[in-house]
Amino acid sequence: MFLSGYWLQVVLSWAVVAFATATVVVAVQNAKLEQDLRDVQSKIDIFEEWNGAKNQRVKREDSIDYRLPTALVPTHYEVYWHPDLETGTFTGQERISITVVEATNQIILHSYLLEITSVYVLNREVESFELETERQFLIITLTQELPVDASITLGIIFNGQMKDKLVGLYSSTYQNEAGAQRNISTSQFEPVYARQGFPCFDEPAMKATFAITVVHPSGSYHAISNMKEIESNYLGDYTEAIFESTVKMSTYLVCVIVSDFASQETTVRANGIGEDFSMQAYATSHQIDKVEFALEFGAAVTEYYIQYYKVAYPLTKLDMAAIPDFSSNAMEHWGLVTYRETALLYDSSYSSTLNKQSIAGVLAHEIAHQWFGNLVTMQWWNDIWLNEGFARYMQYKGVNAVHSDWGMLEQFQIIALHPVLLYDAKLSSHPIVQQVDTPAEISAIFDTISYEKGGSVIRMLETYVGAENFEEAVTNYLVKHQFQNTVTDDFLTEVDAVVPALGVKKLMLTWTNQMGYPVLNVSKTSAGFLVTQQRFLSNPASYEEEPEDSEFGYKWSVPITYTASTWEDGSVSSVVYDYDVDSVGIALDSDIEWIKLNVHQTGYYRVNYEESLWTLLIQQLTTDPSRFDIADRAHLLNDAFALADASQLSYIVPLEMTGYLAQEQDFVPWYVAANKLIAIHRSLMFSEGYVSYLTYARSLLANIYQELGWTVDANNHLRNRLRVSILSAACALGLPDCLEQASTRFNAFLQNPTTARPSPDLREIVYYYGIQESSSQSSWQQLYALFLDEADASERVKMMYGLAGSRDAQTLFNFLDLGYDESIVRSQDYFTLVQNIAANPVGEPVVWEYYREHWPELSARFTLTNRNFGRLISQITQNFAGTVKLEEVQQFYAKYPEAGAGANSRLEAVETIKYNIEWLARNRADITDWLSGTASPLLTAKNQL
Ligand code: BES
Ligand code: ZN
Repeated sequence: MFLSGYWLQVVLSWAVVAFATATVVVAVQNAKLEQDLRDVQSKIDIFEEWNGAKNQRVKREDSIDYRLPTALVPTHYEVYWHPDLETGTFTGQERISITVVEATNQIILHSYLLEITSVYVLNREVESFELETERQFLIITLTQELPVDASITLGIIFNGQMKDKLVGLYSSTYQNEAGAQRNISTSQFEPVYARQGFPCFDEPAMKATFAITVVHPSGSYHAISNMKEIESNYLGDYTEAIFESTVKMSTYLVCVIVSDFASQETTVRANGIGEDFSMQAYATSHQIDKVEFALEFGAAVTEYYIQYYKVAYPLTKLDMAAIPDFSSNAMEHWGLVTYRETALLYDSSYSSTLNKQSIAGVLAHEIAHQWFGNLVTMQWWNDIWLNEGFARYMQYKGVNAVHSDWGMLEQFQIIALHPVLLYDAKLSSHPIVQQVDTPAEISAIFDTISYEKGGSVIRMLETYVGAENFEEAVTNYLVKHQFQNTVTDDFLTEVDAVVPALGVKKLMLTWTNQMGYPVLNVSKTSAGFLVTQQRFLSNPASYEEEPEDSEFGYKWSVPITYTASTWEDGSVSSVVYDYDVDSVGIALDSDIEWIKLNVHQTGYYRVNYEESLWTLLIQQLTTDPSRFDIADRAHLLNDAFALADASQLSYIVPLEMTGYLAQEQDFVPWYVAANKLIAIHRSLMFSEGYVSYLTYARSLLANIYQELGWTVDANNHLRNRLRVSILSAACALGLPDCLEQASTRFNAFLQNPTTARPSPDLREIVYYYGIQESSSQSSWQQLYALFLDEADASERVKMMYGLAGSRDAQTLFNFLDLGYDESIVRSQDYFTLVQNIAANPVGEPVVWEYYREHWPELSARFTLTNRNFGRLISQITQNFAGTVKLEEVQQFYAKYPEAGAGANSRLEAVETIKYNIEWLARNRADITDWLSGTASPLLTAKNQL
């Protein structure tokens, strides 16, 4: 072990490794490596040559193939990492076992932002190696061809930076209780960042096993990775942690963390499917008490998945860690899931009901991936929806299994389905399965289509084939493809095999291979009802434009479900509307009045009815809303507004429908209504009907607002969610009592920040509207000072939101400017800051100006491959509704044509602005006429209401 210690000293000094002696050339991690070390001694002379030839760059102009050649298959990696927490750099070395499947004299693998100091191939001669930045390749050329079936061992020594980044191997910092800065190092490799941690065949189908060794400072620091530690070598200042070799897996799932975190442990019960195993949760030591909820929930949901999948958990432990700096919310590394602090840590004195639900959701999502995604992985990023869409759907099932009183199955509608139905009604959308090649394209495909549409069509499929059949297909799929890679068709094959008569593949392809979705138009006939379909586009003007080609001509095979007015036992019938037929008839008795399609809105489509049918539905809602359950009421509201927004239905229909809200008591339908009331208020803000609109919207909220009040329930999850939704809407719409209450609470809090903190559920409302209503600069400064001092991540997010509520443009500008400094707002939170300010009408122009003015610095800091950075453009401009703004946006694109991962977001932004302009032109008059009572009584049955 002395040898490796010596080697480390040399590399640590950050000198380029001098290959003078064999002991320095290849460090040793274990006895096997030492043996090989002797084998490579004869190659030393060649190392020296490579040293001179390193880091040559090759640029390519013509059309580029970003995929690795298929000639080589890596089977095993031995990776040795030494992160230096003080300098923020790391050194590493690895040996990759590779099988040759096609003769070649080149070894091509990925490497990016790494310095390669040495390359060797056991018993072969390396001619040269070079880094190609465009494709992020390391290209090694050998003097001789490798024959088919040869097994070779490639050795590489490398080093890189960990500072100022959130991908690859990177460093994160926090202040401990004593106020001292502590550094840790961690990794984020999905989708294309393993190559920034170690040279590797960084494609999801290049699965291999990984034997990892990590060096950490001796003492309070330790290292964790996907697998359990099997050996620890004390080397004085440093200790080597050697981990058990992994199972066969993709590079993007590798994880290593060096930290001084504390941990808590629990046991996951396998209940007969495999062995029990340990689950540990890691966090900074002063926050370790905050892992309790996650640990308890994590074990429970894992136990649920083991029973659901009926496949034993493939590893011997499953840990989780809360990382202070983290790019997304969480990452499903096999055996070691990582989270941002707000997604794992729960503290009842800081965390709201929503925080609790989100933590459970994120855990349930990442743990679902441990099988679906990790054990069976998509072949290429084209099919990322298989991973993310499935995990998105399963997370609702998982949380529901543990907290059945949280209404998760209906919450899927409002959190996942409704938002993506908006997005997917635009021409700038894209199909679920979509070709992606470049790192920016791969990064951008982790979007609402892959997650929310993916999850929604899985949910539709499950409803179509039945929950038990679906579950069986999932098990078969996991067993058949374990440790391998799949395409969408492999999954559908398993579903099809369980229910061969249902034509699953034909049906599903219309949803996965073309963008968008249909609206079904329902009319009454003498024999029942007639259903036709058309692609649903939210802007009528979009129908004039030439759509992208689609193999199904924008027709879908729709699994229709329906229920009818006379079926009082709630029975449901179904029929499939094939994409290649013109219409479908539903024969029903003539005494049936209304029919409702898309029961529980499990289908991914909208339903429009003749106006007289809408009238009957509204009538039913008004006389007895309980005739429709929560999911159906939420669905009716959502479809009616969306159809009216698209001018496919008179706005009078959804407005009339809101009348029933006087009787509504449930969270999910209210969430739909409250959000719509806020959205319309934002759209009409600069229109003449605004004041009468506000009066109406406030009147709708007044009763439920009074009833719920400002006292949070001790143990009523959905009522607490409802309260926040209603209070937020009431304050947003300027209900005087709401604003007054918020201000009173805010001022009391500022007077006594330690004892008068509002309940966590109410904090965002109190901070935001407290700031909004206060004209004094000192209130803002006071909250800002508290924000700077705050250590709890979820409280910081709440305060940051509140600070964005100011009505003073200067204050908002300063906040935006201050927030650019990482010591004030962590990089991971920067986009949230920008969005918060842009969502405030006073902040919107401030952000827009800032974004354009600082584009060069922003794009240099966050890089164009960053998907969150890419998305900013559509978020900042989402409420623009004028032609001048549209021109500004287009001028900005012309000035900076490189959009990277933001390419689609740019198209979406333009389409949304055009939609906003036209929405006002089309709907403003209808809404204001209705409000003033001058609308013609379009509803034929209106008098009966
Ligand atoms: N695999 C993703 C993390 C990820 C996202 C990696 C994008 C690379 C690019 C993970 O499973 C995930 O989906 N995380 C979500 C949270 C989850 C609850 C939806 C995230 O981070 O937002
Ligand atoms: Zn995921």
